Amino acid sequence: MRLDLSTWQEVEEYLKNCKGIILPIGSTEQHGPTGAIGTDALTAKSIALAVGKRTGVYVAPVQAYGMAEHHLGFPGTMSLQPSTLLQLIHDLVLSLAKNGFERIFIINGHGGNISTIKSAFAQAYSTASKLELPVANSLRCKIVSWFMTPEVLREARSLYGDKEGQHATPSEIAITLYLHPDLIQKQCKLPPPAKSGPIYDSQDFKRRYPDGRMGSDPYLAKPEHGKMFLDKATIALSTDLVNFLKEL
Ligand code: NI
Repeated sequence: MRLDLSTWQEVEEYLKNCKGIILPIGSTEQHGPTGAIGTDALTAKSIALAVGKRTGVYVAPVQAYGMAEHHLGFPGTMSLQPSTLLQLIHDLVLSLAKNGFERIFIINGHGGNISTIKSAFAQAYSTASKLELPVANSLRCKIVSWFMTPEVLREARSLYGDKEGQHATPSEIAITLYLHPDLIQKQCKLPPPAKSGPIYDSQDFKRRYPDGRMGSDPYLAKPEHGKMFLDKATIALSTDLVNFLKEL
């Protein structure tokens, strides 16, 4: 169920039976020397569409930009500052809430978005109350990161061990290879990655992680793994969504 391909009357009809909507969010940022810049948006979008298909819940267009300030040392990265992302998510939640959506389920593809999005939810609840929106007391927002679901973590650990790393991971790259087989040509054996560690500003990030990877070996990624990660994330997040819709 795609919001962007629906009419407003269809949305009005839908809201009589279901108050939920899925909003996928990613990031447009470097993913190491062999990974696509759009990895986080591509993964979040494909999983969101699959969850929408499985549950019959609307899927909003993907928000392809996220908080990626620390990746700005690498060309092609396009980032929103935390304050911008907070305002953006706040405004999108309010837009939906004003027309009666009560359950906003964000499927996230990028770790750097999480804390800001949780703050945006708090801000949105506060605004909805101040505006005395009819849904103010029943508005619920949730962010789930597909790569943190136990089923995905378990599978990534068994396939890649500690080569999964923290950024440009084989699991996320595998999904992009499954979705876009042309990307397989970019894959090649790389020297050992820099070890995972802290994240500060973009210059410090580039000094610690010169090729953009954090402890990962994306060469281990295979398209068939990607299909499996996509399926596992879809099943886990669909269950999560169904429970979220029922929450009081
Ligand atoms: Ni990523």
